Amino acid sequence: MRLALLGCGTVGAEVVRLLHEQAADLTARVGAPIEIAGIAVRRMGRDRGPLPVDPALFTTDALGLVKRDDVDVVVEVVGGIEPARTWLVEALRSGKSAVTANKALLAEDGGSLHDAAAEGRADLYYEASVAGAIPLLRPLRESLHGDRITRVTGIVNGTTNFILSAMDATGAGFTEALEEATELGYAEADPTADVEGFDAAAKAAILASLAFHSRVTAADVHREGITEVTAADVASAKAMGCTIKLLCIASRGPDSTGADSVSVRVHPAMIPRTHPLASVGDAFNAVFVEAEAAGQLMFYGRGAGGSPTASAVLGDIVAVARNRLSGVRAPSESVYADLPVRPMGEAVTRYHISLDVADRAGVLATVAGVFAKHDVSIATVRQSGRADDASLVVVTHGAPEAALAATVEQLRGLDIVRSIASVLRVEGGA
Ligand SMILES: NC(=O)c1ccc[n+]([C@@H]2O[C@H](COP(=O)([O-])OP(=O)(O)OC[C@H]3O[C@@H](n4cnc5c(N)ncnc54)[C@H](OP(=O)(O)O)[C@@H]3O)[C@@H](O)[C@H]2O)c1
Repeated sequence: MRLALLGCGTVGAEVVRLLHEQAADLTARVGAPIEIAGIAVRRMGRDRGPLPVDPALFTTDALGLVKRDDVDVVVEVVGGIEPARTWLVEALRSGKSAVTANKALLAEDGGSLHDAAAEGRADLYYEASVAGAIPLLRPLRESLHGDRITRVTGIVNGTTNFILSAMDATGAGFTEALEEATELGYAEADPTADVEGFDAAAKAAILASLAFHSRVTAADVHREGITEVTAADVASAKAMGCTIKLLCIASRGPDSTGADSVSVRVHPAMIPRTHPLASVGDAFNAVFVEAEAAGQLMFYGRGAGGSPTASAVLGDIVAVARNRLSGVRAPSESVYADLPVRPMGEAVTRYHISLDVADRAGVLATVAGVFAKHDVSIATVRQSGRADDASLVVVTHGAPEAALAATVEQLRGLDIVRSIASVLRVEGGA
């Protein structure tokens, strides 16, 4: 079984190391030795430290390597949309199996890869693209195929989870916590993809596609990052017995016309400290899956890093190698449900709103009237302070996002509302 390895960076170098260290076991498990036919990189002269591999295997001609007749499986751990898409489409169309960790490409244009796999009758595996080492996509795509998944809620970005966990533990603000994450190597020099939620949105699209048998792309995902989460928000959450997490939430349900549809969003939200996702700290990932027959399932582990990600890549390599040797294909893309994505305005969410208000009679009634006008039901109200410290904390019941947003907009315009200190969504039954 001959592999073309495209990329030899953080993940690729660990794939090389694991293939070498576990060669005997892998041969026994697959039923044939797995050999590296070539390794494509961008810079031939880069110092890669001691790698257990013949230097003559390195090339900068990735496409040439993919096209070689002696390659059975193409493993792409380069990242980005192009040229990775061209390489994978070429491999799959020509009947080679492909393994990739490329969430950005799968979320933007996974359809092209799946179409190429169907055309070439080839396997496409991508376990490492979501939640690193955690076996998650295989359970969604195989183990749960007899069930109906209703909701997937996940912490799928380690950097933002580290930052929010630090803010929760120390009371630090976002900037301070980001600095700590950068110093410790949890955040990249340019953290935009993580802190603005792009990385989590890509993963949300992949999860929603698999869970709901529909093609969902990154563009379908409502996305908000964590840059606006303040120390005051974290303190408000604590006062409610909650913590703040960047959640990816994909759910299935009726749209405003009653038709079956999916809602996919990524945003910070308060969750009760008793929720299983609340205890997921540091840079760990966890995904909570709800299915009609199975009930609640929780997947937890390391979501990134060379070695954990390489573990998932190796698992895929073993799977595709076995399939090739026994002349079978993995289940192909399942998109028969073809569900539309509901606009964010129709998503049913709950809000926690903290208002600085004038200290005078009738304020509560006026504020409550605004909620009633937008048909948003109030679950709890907490009133505290006097004079310049007077504040109201309102937590709503579930309501369409558009109604909640309109309520906040109208509250902002009231002269009795001095400022809106924080608006956060609440998830998980607090
Ligand atoms: N790192 C993680 O924890 C993690 C977790 C989950 C998924 N992933 C995904 O895994 C993939 C790889 O991530 P990584 O962290 O290993 O990236 P990385 O450390 O930046 O490595 C990228 C590799 O691709 C090579 N490369 C870049 N452009 C190329 C080109 N045009 N032709 C040939 N080779 C090229 C680079 O070559 P040089 O070495 O010569 O520069 C390098 O070896 C990405 O899709 C990422 O999203 C990563």
